Amino acid sequence: MPTPTPIILDCDPGHDDALAILLALARPELRLLGITTVAGNVGLAATTRNALGILALAGRPEIPVASGADRPLVRPLRTAAQVHGTSGLEGADLPAPLAAPRPEGAIALLAELVRGASEPVTLVPTGPLTNIALFLGAHPELRDRIARICLMGGSMGEGNWTASAEFNIWVDPEAADRVFSAGIPLTQVTIDVTHQALVPVAESDAWASLGTRTGRVFADLFRFFAGWHARRYGWDGSPIHDAVAVAHLALPGLVTTEDYRVQVETHSELTLGRTVIDRERLSGEPPNVSVSVGIDRARFLDVVRETLAAFP
Ligand code: RIB
Ligand code: CA
Repeated sequence: MPTPTPIILDCDPGHDDALAILLALARPELRLLGITTVAGNVGLAATTRNALGILALAGRPEIPVASGADRPLVRPLRTAAQVHGTSGLEGADLPAPLAAPRPEGAIALLAELVRGASEPVTLVPTGPLTNIALFLGAHPELRDRIARICLMGGSMGEGNWTASAEFNIWVDPEAADRVFSAGIPLTQVTIDVTHQALVPVAESDAWASLGTRTGRVFADLFRFFAGWHARRYGWDGSPIHDAVAVAHLALPGLVTTEDYRVQVETHSELTLGRTVIDRERLSGEPPNVSVSVGIDRARFLDVVRETLAAFP
C-alpha cells in the first residue's frame, strides 16, 4: 500500500460535507491532517459546530478543526439554509463537540499543517473558496507544498443556484477566480458529475439498519436531504457532491477527468459565479483544470456503503 495522501478538508457542513468528512477519515488511501470551516451552506459558527459534531460522532475528536472566513471576500454571505436547514445539518441530532476549534484560525492551521507535512498536501475545498484564496494570498511561500487542490464546485452545464452557477462558486466568485488562476494543479468536481451518482433513499434508509449511531444519524440526515431533492428535482435520493471529491482522491479511477481551460465569471450579475469551461479549446489558452466528466456510480455507492459501515 503506497503511503496515504495527506489532505486537508475545507468545508461548510452541510449534509454532503458531513459524509465527505467520514469518507476522508475512513479511506486508507488518505490521511486527514485537519479540517477548516468556512461560511457557506450556513454561517461559520454552525459549519464549525457541525464539523466538530461529525468528528465526535465518528470518534475522531483529535482531528484539528479551525474556523475561517465568516463571509466571502467582497460580497455579503448568502447561505443555503433552505437546503440544509438553519443548523446546516437538519434531520438529526449530532453529539456535542468533544474538542474546541483551534484558536489560531483556519489560515494559520492550513499553514501549520502544510508546512509541517512530510510531503506536499492536497487541499480539498467543498464549500466556497474564501479560505483557500486567503491562504494562497497570505502564504505564497507554501504554494510548492500544495500537491493539488481537488475541489467540489462549478458546472459544465446549467447551475444549481442560478441558471449559470453552482452554489460554492456563486457564493464567492472572486475567491474562486483567485484559486482557478493560481497555477496550482487543480481538479474540479462539477455538479454535472455529482448528479450522475445519486444515493437513493432506500440506500440511505438502510444505514439505519447498520445498528450503529453513525448509521442512524446519517440515515436521518439524508432523509431530510433527500426531501429537498425530491421537492426540487423529483429525484429518488441525493447527490453527495462533496464526498465525490474525496472519493476521487482515494480512488483515482472513480471519476474520469479531462483537462480544460476554466475561468470564473466575476462581473456579470446574470452569469456571476459561472465556471466557463472551454471544452472546444476556443480560447487558445492552455488547460488549467482537470474537470470531472464521468463517474463510476456503482463503485461510488460501494465506497459510501463501506464508509458508513466503518463507524460506530
Ligand atoms: O452545489 C453543491 C455544493 O454546495 C456542495 O458543496 C454543498 O455542500 C454546498 O456547499
Ligand atoms: Ca459543501
